Amino acid sequence: MPESLTTTARPMIELQQVTKRFAGQAEPAVNALDLQVPEGEIVMLIGPSGCGKTTSLKMMNRLIEPSSGRIVINGEDVTDVDVDKLRRTIGYVIQQVGLFPHWTIGANIATVPKMLGWDKKRTAARVDELLALVGLEPKDYRDRYPKELSGGQQQRIGVARGLAADPAVMLMDEPFGAIDPVTRDRLQDEFLALQEQVKKTICFVTHDLTEAVKLGDRIAVFGQGGRLHQLDVPSKVLSEPADDFVAEFVGGGAAVRRLALVTLDDMPLRDVLKAGAGRVSRGDLVAEVDGGGKPRRWASVPGHEGRDIPLIYVDKDASLHTAVDEMLTHHVPVVAVVDGARRLVGALRWEDLVNERDEVVPTGSAGTAAADAAAGA
Ligand SMILES: Nc1ncnc2c1ncn2[C@@H]1O[C@H](COP(=O)(O)OP(=O)(O)O)[C@@H](O)[C@H]1O
Ligand SMILES: [Mg+2]
Repeated sequence: MPESLTTTARPMIELQQVTKRFAGQAEPAVNALDLQVPEGEIVMLIGPSGCGKTTSLKMMNRLIEPSSGRIVINGEDVTDVDVDKLRRTIGYVIQQVGLFPHWTIGANIATVPKMLGWDKKRTAARVDELLALVGLEPKDYRDRYPKELSGGQQQRIGVARGLAADPAVMLMDEPFGAIDPVTRDRLQDEFLALQEQVKKTICFVTHDLTEAVKLGDRIAVFGQGGRLHQLDVPSKVLSEPADDFVAEFVGGGAAVRRLALVTLDDMPLRDVLKAGAGRVSRGDLVAEVDGGGKPRRWASVPGHEGRDIPLIYVDKDASLHTAVDEMLTHHVPVVAVVDGARRLVGALRWEDLVNERDEVVPTGSAGTAAADAAAGA
């Protein structure tokens, strides 16, 4: 997970000074937009209604032609690519799923493979693979018709159809916008699990900040006149809005949202030295780890010398809220952050949280109480 705008991934989607003016409109719909989506990442486009999110997305697969500027996808200027070919190599998922009502679910998912001339066997195998991927039992669903499915299931079919020809790039325009909140939350979780497997480069439009923070590796905040105000990782957009517009847009709930929605791998973590692995200086955080890389105990926690601090670990996919909760519950000034195999990946220290931004902990007194508790008072 990226911690800042610096990334080693190459941009899969790149917009350079892209402007779109519709005839008869005073303001451009999209204004001199520079945007990069690194390979394998999800960039969320967010902003008030009419700020040019959909227009930006539709220019990427040439449903709308830009007035000026350049759009490069996977190294190719999209204006040099045949439109049909371009659309087949980019998945497109929209809110009004647009399933053909008189076609079976299987036929709907197979739309693009059919256009590509895949044979029956390959197409059928792909349909079943995709149904399973989006959590629907192939034999129960492939022969049904769209109206026999719930809204959430239809939306899963929309995602499956977008993925059918295994495109490197997916464009998604408020795909979960019309779904009830409980189902939406589940679809978002499934979507993230799916992305772990398929690792597509995704540009995703939403007007829901919670969705943007939850799903995005980065968030692009748009304002009126199609201007990009900020492009950064979710924690930065919430804690360091680039200007007054973004500050107002992310609003007062930023601190709480950040705690609940930012996962630890979005946070700058401390390095932890392994005990016995080499030279240790005074300020180093040192842990004993077993042969499998799992942390066993703290060997040295700077600022807390001579105190036996229990080693509490938290999964890197857990929220910042969970980490703070663990620190307060166990009265520790630091938690170890581990991966799925419980291997040590870093640490989160209380003082980094309270010093970085005041609003991480809502009141100064809570911070002091916890610091006291952490110091063993
Ligand atoms: N086909 C069109 N013709 C004229 N104006 C359009 C067209 N599509 C969008 N617009 C205008 O462009 C602006 C941006 O629209 P849009 O990209 O749909 O915004 P968003 O998706 O952020 O709500 C709006 O002012 C909208 O009215
Ligand atoms: Mg829109």
